Amino acid sequence: MIKETLEKIEQISERTLSAIKDSTDLDAVNDIRVKILGKKGELTAVLKTMGKLSADERPVIGAKANEVREAVEKAVSEQMVKLKALDYEQRIKKEAVDVTLPGKRFPLGKSHPMSVVLDELKEIFRSMGYTVVGGPEIEETRFVFDMLNTPAGHPARDEGDTFYVSDDVVLRTQTSSVQIRTMLENKPPIAVISPGRVYRRDEVDATHSPVFYQCEALVVDKNITFADLKGTLEAFMKRLYGDSVRLRFRPHHFPYTEPSAEVDLSCFKCGGDGCSMCKGEGWLEILGAGVVHPKVLQNCGIDPAVYSGFAFGMGLERITMMRYEIDDLRLLYENDVRFLRQF
Ligand code: DAH
Repeated sequence: MIKETLEKIEQISERTLSAIKDSTDLDAVNDIRVKILGKKGELTAVLKTMGKLSADERPVIGAKANEVREAVEKAVSEQMVKLKALDYEQRIKKEAVDVTLPGKRFPLGKSHPMSVVLDELKEIFRSMGYTVVGGPEIEETRFVFDMLNTPAGHPARDEGDTFYVSDDVVLRTQTSSVQIRTMLENKPPIAVISPGRVYRRDEVDATHSPVFYQCEALVVDKNITFADLKGTLEAFMKRLYGDSVRLRFRPHHFPYTEPSAEVDLSCFKCGGDGCSMCKGEGWLEILGAGVVHPKVLQNCGIDPAVYSGFAFGMGLERITMMRYEIDDLRLLYENDVRFLRQF
């Protein structure tokens, strides 16, 4: 009886140890362990028959069974360590990256030339103490025209030039409307610029577009004069185009300023001698400006006997085109990357 039992245990041991060695995954190893050492396992079953053995036989079998159990457990844990290491190695191999492969290219965007110029312009005015403000593009006629001293019947309000949404709402034709909004909402001292889109019924060509950008400026305080306007514009233009540029003021008419001027910039390409850029003139027309009309101040509840102001407005496309010597406005809106990459 004892011999048989010992043989049986030995058989189980051999078979199990070799099965463990041959197993290729962790679950299989665990299954073997349960099948042998578990509650209903083979070795356990053999041990349950020990009751039939004599008192001197029992310790012999017990010792053998313990020896086998320890051997099986050791083999199981060793095989598990081995399989885990193997699995790890394979995963590393599979996830390996060939660092010598060429990388993917992620093309970087660039700022549009108009954005570059606008950012610079904002920075210049901010550094002079101005605030950047905005206003709606769909705007009431009283802000675009009436309160800017441009009454009904004025040619600037012509339906041939203006996109009317209704009788008293238009797509703003100028950022000057923001002057009114600013003065209605703020008390002097005021120093703002307001860049933004404006709309006019123009055909598209090299210098026109029905949608374009302007930048408005307004300063209102005590004792503001035309001299302040001149000094401000000169400082601004020199920062934008270099110290050697000069300005020329020509008398003009705008309903919302008195006196009004058109301002020319000495051609920064030829220095004023005349070239293709300035069409031989030596000067480039760059903006409209003036001293805020007393009626406009009054319309906004500002006493013209106490306060005065200046204002100017310019086309941003023109400023940008001059800056980069771009000769066709359409290039700014076609978004051709071959063009945009140059800035
Ligand atoms: N609004 C004018 C235009 O669209 C530009 C302009 C001229 C703005 C004189 C002003 C100004 O503020 O004082 O051409």
